[in-house]
Amino acid sequence: MLTKLKTTAARILHLHLGGELAKYEEALEIPKDLSLGDLAFPCFLLAKSQKKAPPAIALELSNQLNSLKGTEIREIRPQGGYVNFIFTNEYWTKTVLSEIELKKGQVGDATLGKGKKVVIDYSSPNVAKPMSIGHLRSTVIGQALVNIHKAVGFETIGINYLGDWGVQFGKLAWAHLNKAELASKAAQHSKVIVQDGFSSSLWSQLIDDLANKPEDSFDYLYALYVVFHAVAEQDLDLAEKGREYFLKLEKRHSAESKNDALTAKIVSTWQKFVEISLVEYDRVYKLLNVKHDLVRGESYHENDLDDVVKRLKDHKLLTLSEGAQIVDLTAYDMPPCLIQKSDGATLYATRDIAAAEDRALKLGADRLIYVVGSEQTLHFKQFFKVLELMGYPWAKDCVHVPFGLYRFKEGKMSTRRGNVIFLEDVLDRAIELVEKIIQEKNPELKNARQVAEQVGTGAVVFHDLMNDRQKSIDFDWDRLLDFNGDTGPYVQYTYARLNSIISKWGKPIPKVSEISKLDEPLEKAVLQSLARMPQMVLVSYEQLKPNWIAQYLLDLCKCINAFYYEHRILGEEDSVQRSRILLVWACQTVIKRGLELLGMPAPQSM
Ligand code: ARG
Repeated sequence: MLTKLKTTAARILHLHLGGELAKYEEALEIPKDLSLGDLAFPCFLLAKSQKKAPPAIALELSNQLNSLKGTEIREIRPQGGYVNFIFTNEYWTKTVLSEIELKKGQVGDATLGKGKKVVIDYSSPNVAKPMSIGHLRSTVIGQALVNIHKAVGFETIGINYLGDWGVQFGKLAWAHLNKAELASKAAQHSKVIVQDGFSSSLWSQLIDDLANKPEDSFDYLYALYVVFHAVAEQDLDLAEKGREYFLKLEKRHSAESKNDALTAKIVSTWQKFVEISLVEYDRVYKLLNVKHDLVRGESYHENDLDDVVKRLKDHKLLTLSEGAQIVDLTAYDMPPCLIQKSDGATLYATRDIAAAEDRALKLGADRLIYVVGSEQTLHFKQFFKVLELMGYPWAKDCVHVPFGLYRFKEGKMSTRRGNVIFLEDVLDRAIELVEKIIQEKNPELKNARQVAEQVGTGAVVFHDLMNDRQKSIDFDWDRLLDFNGDTGPYVQYTYARLNSIISKWGKPIPKVSEISKLDEPLEKAVLQSLARMPQMVLVSYEQLKPNWIAQYLLDLCKCINAFYYEHRILGEEDSVQRSRILLVWACQTVIKRGLELLGMPAPQSM
């Protein structure tokens, strides 16, 4: 939409000044103060060649251009060092609304990613640990980035890179297979553990869960995890047991492991834990509209690790340091990348190298995106550098998309201590609170529970995505659910309201060719906001920041609400009514698409 306006203005500049049309299209800006003009051409670009000051150029150029303007432009006028273009309301109305009429739900979509494939690694929780609210960020930012890449034409593959490998699975398997021993050690150390800062009620709850919860429940798994770590802090032998068990897990395909009963038990325990965890995560993904294309955990790449080590050796990248194999990165001002420990066990980075090879070479990704908290920035820098040193040209197409932490009043969260805030609890609470609000405000509402789910989870998602992902977020219930504030419920509520206007109208939506121009300043403001949608999708894509779309939706909702507050839509003279209904429909369409890109539902009524 803006592109079309830009081309119209650029043509006139081009007609008068010559040169390349595209240069003018690029140079045209949106003025900070929209009341000054619709587009501005910065005259300092001509200052050198014309040997004049920009304001003088702007004055002269405006006069000259005015005689060239066609019917689309109302006025061209100087403003400081800029030439401002003001289009007619007729042109605004037709340009913006016809594009939305044409594209409908695909408004804002682009084709720049056509023929390219992107693999996005997101959510990727660690098996046996609950999805904490900290995982929310990767999950929702990642899903939004999948949606946005699709919208600009990419083929997308979303991967859930489960943390399903590593020495902690040796520990968990030991804990499970030696439950009685763990329980007695827990009893023996319980006093010290509680003294050390473990809430005593939580501790007894965990001990109870360990004894009484079914072994295929997540609660049992979680109790196992927390209790093991608490006891292991007191009893240093436990860590060694965990390492032993993990080694057995790693060596399970070797000849001597073939008939080893303990190995078989460890393997099946590990597999069961992965299954139980996935069931747990899927419940949350469903609430959040999250769909991965592939679940490919760390263990998936396990058989490729020897080859990775070999390739690194062939490239002469490995150095022996205190018994471990490392890639020395001193030349790049980074600590070494650890590849293999002295006991032969591989590490997080090794598996990430194998996974990246899989994504680039087997899945055919042109771009590899990792949505992971900023505390892992160094890890990504290191392993991307190793990929580069291995001679992979696609190393430059690997992108880490970091994000900041959630801050709760309770302080930073840690799973080992057990004082973790579960994502599911947060979602449940949000849903509950919205249900209450609905009961108060709209007790008649049908599907109240479903709407509460959509609005409650939507509130949590929007609250996350509206912030620049690199900043930390203060979690605040009141702000999150304020139907009149900068929130998801506000956007969804606006959508539902527009929907109800359209239902009341009850007739087909008029075509652009059948309506008259929108003349009111508040109508123009809505058109101006609508026109920005494609640009917002593009910046979100370029910067990998969905907050552009979220903030944009707030702006669009404010514009349409301001208009609706001042003007009637239904009950006006027919031609006015018809134009306004089309405007309402356009807003509804764009809001719905924007919410979709953020992974949020748009309830029809609420
Ligand atoms: N499981 C990891 C964690 O929760 C995140 C994995 C991110 N992806 C990756 N390819 N390293 O910390």
